[in-house]
Parts: sequence; structure tokens; C-alpha cells
Amino acid sequence: MFVGNRQQRGRETLAHYRHRVGTPRSEFMNAIRIHSYGGPEVLQYEDAPCPRVKNGEVLVRVHAAGVNPLDWKVRGGDLNGFVEHKLPLIPGWDLSGVVEKVGPGPAAAGRFKKGDEVFAMADPTRDGAYADYVAVRVTALALKPKSLHHVYAAATPVSALAAWQSLFGAGKLQPGQRILIHGGSGGVGHFAVQFAKWKGAYVIATASTNNQQLLRKLGADETIDYTIQKFEDVAQKIDIVLDTIGGETQERSWLVLKQGGALISLVQPPSEEKVNQFGVRSIMSSVQPDGAQLSAIAKLIDSAKLRPTIDRILPLSEARRAHELSQNGHTRGKIVLRVKDVQS
Ligand SMILES: NC(=O)c1ccc[n+]([C@@H]2O[C@H](COP(=O)([O-])OP(=O)(O)OC[C@H]3O[C@@H](n4cnc5c(N)ncnc54)[C@H](OP(=O)(O)O)[C@@H]3O)[C@@H](O)[C@H]2O)c1
Repeated sequence: MFVGNRQQRGRETLAHYRHRVGTPRSEFMNAIRIHSYGGPEVLQYEDAPCPRVKNGEVLVRVHAAGVNPLDWKVRGGDLNGFVEHKLPLIPGWDLSGVVEKVGPGPAAAGRFKKGDEVFAMADPTRDGAYADYVAVRVTALALKPKSLHHVYAAATPVSALAAWQSLFGAGKLQPGQRILIHGGSGGVGHFAVQFAKWKGAYVIATASTNNQQLLRKLGADETIDYTIQKFEDVAQKIDIVLDTIGGETQERSWLVLKQGGALISLVQPPSEEKVNQFGVRSIMSSVQPDGAQLSAIAKLIDSAKLRPTIDRILPLSEARRAHELSQNGHTRGKIVLRVKDVQS
């Protein structure tokens, strides 16, 4: 296999290798890969071997791949020690596309078939979706919402699952509860605001001046402009804080929780000391692929109760630019890479 022989071949390019050994074009695909950890410049747009599907997996022809902070944290090596990766690695674990091939074994058989339009959060420990094809476990896969273009569907899985699992799994959010969502205009936050409203909670969300209108459109009952207001002056007696920011924002969030409330963070483990001091709960939430939850999310989308917001669509070849934009920390909804150039 090409990857295994790479070190022996030294500096030989894939194109030369393919020419020399006569490997058919169909075994290769366009992909963004990293061969070492570092800045956006380590993202290489190149040929890579097509993934092989194993038991319980399907091969998906990727139409669009969502961009998440996870992608550039992995690229930068920030998660080394937490998540193990083999290099070269294809990043990007948010995808929408079409089933190309169903893998062997009973787990995959009967659940999906060639031609199904699907979306998924792929396994972040393996090759991802910045590529023409990706292998995905059937348990992570769901049928794409019919009402969404692939580009919008690809914006959904990682962020929506992170919001869903934090609010309804870790937080057990109930109708009528008061929730404060930090970063309500970001990838996770903009889904969290919509989920919390759908559940019947009272939603307070933070963002900068430019995003106040978006927060209201998403359904927030109260909005806070963190650039001119201290959220703790406005939000009080909160049942759940969803922290997508960390640092000083998390530090000040203890003050707004009522006794027995919960601080759920996606970015930084909350302090045990503060939990005892304030008589609250805290949870460090970690998103997991889940096809069943994605199906429930797809139903909400198709019944017009949920809608992803897109900040920008870029071609796959501009993954570097997409990472630079995402790393600015001010994405409005999601950035998406268009992988296949079609209209559906
Ligand atoms: N643990 C997990 O499983 C998990 C899963 C998903 C995400 N995450 C992490 O959660 C974090 C958020 O992810 P994301 O996809 O939502 O990121 P994102 O889309 O990049 O978030 C950007 C948003 O944050 C807002 N923001 C920036 N500074 C803020 C502040 N001080 N107060 C309030 N809002 C602020 C921005 O609004 P303005 O432009 O208006 O400032 C922007 O809309 C990332 O660190 C990500 O890695 C973790």
C-alpha cells in the first residue's frame, strides 16, 4: 500500500510512484493531509489512497466537510496525548455525502445502501472527511435531512451533537429552566440556543455586538453583548451554564449559577474546588459520534425547528484559509469545505 512504502521511497512523489507501478487512478483520491503537526501550512492538498471499508463500515463519497476547532487543534498537535493519530492524517470529522459502498459484516448490511444521502461525525481518532471518500461506522451515520443541501448538512454533526449531548445528556435540561449559553453565535452555541428553546428553557446567550441579532433570530429570550456588558450583571439564578469559551468566562460563570445548578464545559475541566464552594455540579463534556442522535436532529431540521447557520463556504483546496478563519475565534455558525462540486 502506498502509505506503508512511503518512507522507503524517500522523496518520490505519489504521482511518480503511481506512474511507475501503474496503480489505477481509482485507488487514489483528492485529500487534505498533514504529515507533521504545525500551523495551517502543514495542510497539504494532494493525492491519497482511498480508504478501505471494514466490518460495520460504509464508504461515503464526501460532498461537503464541516470545519471545527477540533480540526486545527489536532493539526497543531494540541491534542497529542489525548487522542492518538497515525500520520499522515486526513483531518475533518464532519461530513455529508452519498454512500458509495457498504462494507462486509452483518452490522452494516441492511441499514444503509449505495446511493443513500447521509451525514455523520466520523471517528476523530482516524482519517477524516477532508477528502473525496471517508470510511464511517454505520453506528455514526444517519440519513441526511431531506430539506438540507449537503453543505448545510455537513455543518451540523459535530457541533449539534456536542450541544445535544451537553444539554440533554450531561445537563438533563428541563422545560422552564434558565440556561446561559456562552458563545451563542458559534458552531456549538448556535445549535445549543435552538435546542434549549425547543426544549422550553429560558435562554440567555452571549456574543459580540455584530451577533446580537443572530442570537435573537435563533430564539434567545435575552442576549448579552460581552464586549459592553458583564454577563454576571444580567444573568442570575441560572440552572445551567454552557461554557464554550473557558478561561475568565468560565471563572466568572460560577457567580451566576443557583444552588444545585450545573456548569457544563466543552473546553476546560471546571474546578472541583469551585463546585464545593458554590454548591453546584460541573461536567466536562466530550462529544461522541452517535447516528441515533443525529437521526433525531435530522427530524428536527426537517420539521423546521432547527437550522444550521453558515459563515462561509470554501473549496477543499482552501482548507488552510478555512483553518485560519476558524482559529480567529469569531466564526458565525459554521465554515464548510465544499468537496464535490454539485448542486444537491
Ligand atoms: N469537548 C468537546 O467535545 C467539544 C466539542 C465541540 C467543540 N468543543 C470546543 O468548544 C469550543 C467552541 O466550539 P465552536 O465550534 O462553537 O467554536 P467557534 O464556532 O469557533 O466559536 C466562535 C464563537 O465564539 C464567540 N465568542 C468568542 N469569544 C467570546 C466570548 N468571550 N464570549 C462569548 N462568545 C465569544 C464568537 O462570537 P463573536 O464573534 O460575536 O465574538 C463566535 O461566534 C472550541 O474550543 C471547541 O474546540 C469541544
